[in-house]
Amino acid sequence: MHRIAAGGTVLDLACGSGRHALLCRARGHPVVAVDRDTASVAALAATDAGIEVVRADLEGAPWPLGARTFAAVIVVNYLWRPLLPRIVDAVAERGVLLYETFAVGNERYGRPRNPDFLLREGELRDLAAERFEVLVCEHGVEGEPPSAVRQRLCAVRR
Ligand SMILES: C[S@@+](CC[C@H](N)C(=O)[O-])C[C@H]1O[C@@H](n2cnc3c(N)ncnc32)[C@H](O)[C@@H]1O
Repeated sequence: MHRIAAGGTVLDLACGSGRHALLCRARGHPVVAVDRDTASVAALAATDAGIEVVRADLEGAPWPLGARTFAAVIVVNYLWRPLLPRIVDAVAERGVLLYETFAVGNERYGRPRNPDFLLREGELRDLAAERFEVLVCEHGVEGEPPSAVRQRLCAVRR
């Protein structure tokens, strides 16, 4: 997170309860928090003008953010492949993409098991290859004893 431009706006996509939005707010970033269920994050925004809540169905409706770009885009525990090009485009020049979710092999340990929701080996690295400098890209078993297979990327847009 220290690579995110000071004061830059962060997009927390499929934000859920807003745990990453809160982390970003604690570091002084305005946040745009998007989810189809915004009840929790709307409660946070009620007392924090730095959180903009966007209620949207990311899979059954048009991309809700137009051509807006962000100092960072954070996506955790969410995958809908048709959105990947939109996510890349939403990262501003010198902006940071932080993406982490379950990956192939996770089906051995639990849900999600559907390959539509599991990143393939190298998928995030390939996504970032053209337009980003990849700082971290990991794919592996998590937990002791093993409980999940996850992939994570931290990349800065050139
Ligand atoms: C596992 S949660 C992850 C939440 C958050 N990123 C985190 O790591 O705590 C997945 C989130 O994706 C959201 N989601 C699933 N399908 C969605 C859709 N079609 N449009 C918008 N949000 C969706 C859910 O509402 C949920 O908040």
